[in-house]
Amino acid sequence: MITEQQKALVRSTFDMVEPIADTAAEIFYNKLFEYDPALQALFKSNMKDQGRKLMAALKLAVASLDDLDALVPVLQRMAVKHVEYGVKVDDYTPVGNALLFALKTGLAEAYTDEVKEAWTETYRVVATVMRQAAYDDYDPDTYHNTRHYNH
Ligand code: HEM
Repeated sequence: MITEQQKALVRSTFDMVEPIADTAAEIFYNKLFEYDPALQALFKSNMKDQGRKLMAALKLAVASLDDLDALVPVLQRMAVKHVEYGVKVDDYTPVGNALLFALKTGLAEAYTDEVKEAWTETYRVVATVMRQAAYDDYDPDTYHNTRHYNH
């Protein structure tokens, strides 16, 4: 459940990192591949284009937080495509943590506990929808990822 205040925080902080989107995307991928070097092999296209696609998808998700009914089918289709890219259910965890790290770096002192909470909850909702659409045996109530990351 994403509160109205959290949505506002996600939107305003996304607007702050958008002007440095290429840098934020680079920080994100560097951290992701530090967390899990094996993930690098899944990415076949140019990382700059990939970074732009990621930021565009995030922008859409952030803009659609008030209309989850419209966003859900988009996320579901995207999740199924991700299975074809070789993405596993556990991979959403390092991706979420690398995203938080990129936000923390890009926002600096604007990355407050409330901002971290707001993005954590937003990513949790998005990742839950995607995992549910893509992995038959995924159950959000019992799912537990044994890998831990620090951001
Ligand atoms: C909030 C979650 C995510 C969003 C918004 C997102 C967004 C995107 C977008 C927009 C694309 C471009 C192609 C397409 O539309 O399918 C893409 C491709 C891709 N994503 Fe994601 N993604 C997410 C999660 C993940 C996760 C957890 C992984 C795991 C490592 C991942 C790995 C990839 C790979 C390997 C590709 C294809 C790259 C290529 O063509 O070389 N993504 N993603």
